[in-house]
Amino acid sequence: MRPLDTLRFYLRTKTSSLPRYVLSETLQAAVGWIPGVVGIGLRGILYKLVLRADGIPAIEDHVRIHRAEDVVLGRGVYIDHGVYLHGAPQGLHIGDHSWVMAGSRLHVFNFRGLPQAGIRIGRRTFIGEGTIIRGQGGVVIGDCVLFGPRVMVLAVNHVFADPARPIMQQGITAKGICIEDGCWIGAGATILDGVTVGQGACIGAGSVVTHSVPAHALAVGVPARVIRDLLTDPLPAPDVQVYFGGLEQF
Ligand SMILES: CC(C)(COP(=O)(O)OP(=O)(O)OC[C@H]1O[C@@H](n2cnc3c(N)ncnc32)[C@H](O)[C@@H]1OP(=O)(O)O)[C@@H](O)C(=O)NCCC(=O)NCCS
Repeated sequence: MRPLDTLRFYLRTKTSSLPRYVLSETLQAAVGWIPGVVGIGLRGILYKLVLRADGIPAIEDHVRIHRAEDVVLGRGVYIDHGVYLHGAPQGLHIGDHSWVMAGSRLHVFNFRGLPQAGIRIGRRTFIGEGTIIRGQGGVVIGDCVLFGPRVMVLAVNHVFADPARPIMQQGITAKGICIEDGCWIGAGATILDGVTVGQGACIGAGSVVTHSVPAHALAVGVPARVIRDLLTDPLPAPDVQVYFGGLEQF
């Protein structure tokens, strides 16, 4: 690839137009670093020139946004310090009153023009610190979903059927992932392509989810296996103090 083609490809991955790119990069350079409520206030107003937001989103410092024109934020969205958001033509949607915590990386990663790509997060969903979401096959996360830290949601697989060729050159498959309303995904869990995690299911910390998990199931381990149906075999109430009054009240 000639240098000019490389530059064109680079810019195509970052924006849909040069003026948008210049505006987005200028705004991020000018106010992206400012900490605290002053920075949050400035970004909440100015970033609406480049991304789509209902109301004033709360965006902490050092959040990096590419293809901001494909990023849609609902009302009352909170984006924590150092988050990386990369939209793409099918977009990255974060629903009303959802939180994306520090260091998370949400990347639609659609450099091949997949029609099903995208990341769509519902309302009042909490994405724990350091989470990575790749949206080639389309990732849909429902309302009131709770992610522990460092969850991975990877809606893509590489084809590796031909031993004579590098795997990188054999293409990808991308079926998509759905995590339904009210789930809890434990810290460090990995959700693989093609999986649906049913409503209200709980995935144990560190699990690797290779097959769909029914609604209201508790699934743990590598690979994740269902060990309990929380409807027919409910957990006993905890015999220790239970606390309320945190983020769930906002
Ligand atoms: C799954 C979880 C909720 C425990 O549920 P629980 O109903 O109390 O389960 P128990 O501790 O009674 O364990 C039941 C069985 O599952 C196993 N198990 C529990 N969690 C597991 C996990 N993450 N991976 C593998 N096995 C696990 C236990 O060893 C036990 O097996 P055994 O019956 O052979 O001894 C908890 O282990 C967990 O993973 N929590 C996530 C914590 C987290 O991510 N916090 C971040 C805040 S969002």
